[in-house]
Amino acid sequence: MNCTSIRLSAHPSTSCNNPSKTYNYSLITYYYLLSAKFLSLRPMQSLQEQIKQYEQEINSFTPADATELENYRIKFLGTKGIVKAIFGEMKNVPVEQKKEAGQLLNTFKQLAEGKYDAFAHLQGGNGKQDTGIDITLPGTAIPTGTRHPLRMVENEIVSIFEKIGFSVATGPEIEDDWHNFTSLNMPEHHPARDMQDTFYVSQNPDWVLRTHTSSVQARIMEQGNLPVRVICPGRVYRNETISARAHCFFHQCEGLYIDKNVSFADLKQTLYYFVTEMFGADTKVRFRPSYFPFTEPSAEMDISCTVCGGSGCSLCKHTGWVEILGCGMVHPNMLRNFGIDSEVYTGFAFGMGVERITQIKYQVNDLRLYSQNDIRFLKQFQSI
Ligand code: PHE
Repeated sequence: MNCTSIRLSAHPSTSCNNPSKTYNYSLITYYYLLSAKFLSLRPMQSLQEQIKQYEQEINSFTPADATELENYRIKFLGTKGIVKAIFGEMKNVPVEQKKEAGQLLNTFKQLAEGKYDAFAHLQGGNGKQDTGIDITLPGTAIPTGTRHPLRMVENEIVSIFEKIGFSVATGPEIEDDWHNFTSLNMPEHHPARDMQDTFYVSQNPDWVLRTHTSSVQARIMEQGNLPVRVICPGRVYRNETISARAHCFFHQCEGLYIDKNVSFADLKQTLYYFVTEMFGADTKVRFRPSYFPFTEPSAEMDISCTVCGGSGCSLCKHTGWVEILGCGMVHPNMLRNFGIDSEVYTGFAFGMGVERITQIKYQVNDLRLYSQNDIRFLKQFQSI
């Protein structure tokens, strides 16, 4: 008996090594093939009978373990399985019965697959192997980080100024003497350098860790594209003893606006707009005369205390006011240093510490908290 003829019958997994079975199936096949030739009803009946027989087997099948289920899969759903083989017999079904036969086959296929799916858990998570992993257990949550409070506040400052046409400029943290000091009207031996002692880079005595982001403003002025309206956020360094109120590095956001007819009134209005956006519409401002080598006149700007509203508390040291930034009109010497005609152009500049704004906004009373990486501190600030 020829094994190929067995393939035509409905049970290909029947072994060719079993002569008696081989004989039976081949006989049936032979009979149906013959009858299909002369009687158009036969192939359909053959299908129905086979399906009926296998339906019973499937319905009563209950696998005890993954091996039994896998054997079932190979027998019924495998590439050489019963479902495929019965589908193969469709070609013998007369055209007018094909629709009915198709429905019959599909229902049978669903039954065979449904049984497998119902016990797929025996196979483990992916239905392929038993991994021993209980996929129904809740997963281990991966905690998501939050933005650093200083970054959140810096982003907020930047976006407030972006709304009124300022763009962001950045520059190097290792800066040369010219951009950090000399061009800003602070030549060597100028006493104002004392207040901004910093770290020097041993390879080159001309290099320092920048003490403010005014150095970025110097670089912007050097490019000479006027008018200019920039905000310069970034990390800066000073030689300070670390305490709750001072650190050897901190963050600044400085601003520069140079154009024709820029006045102190523009400076006041711009900064007033900033604080009302940042701290609320009720915020009051006051300017106190001050000194910076690169601005003239210069001022410190205070805002009404955001905690007590002016009645006095520890944040404002019972004065009702908190200092938030330094500012002034760009010194003509500085304009000249960069070849800008100080008779035609004027400008204002301001600089604020991001730590200071964050301290006021969130009442953080120790600067060191920002760089200690203490999760208990950091996770109190939620942001996207
Ligand atoms: N650069 C100054 C500082 O770091 C701040 C400032 C900038 C003051 C611009 C006035 C104008 O202290």
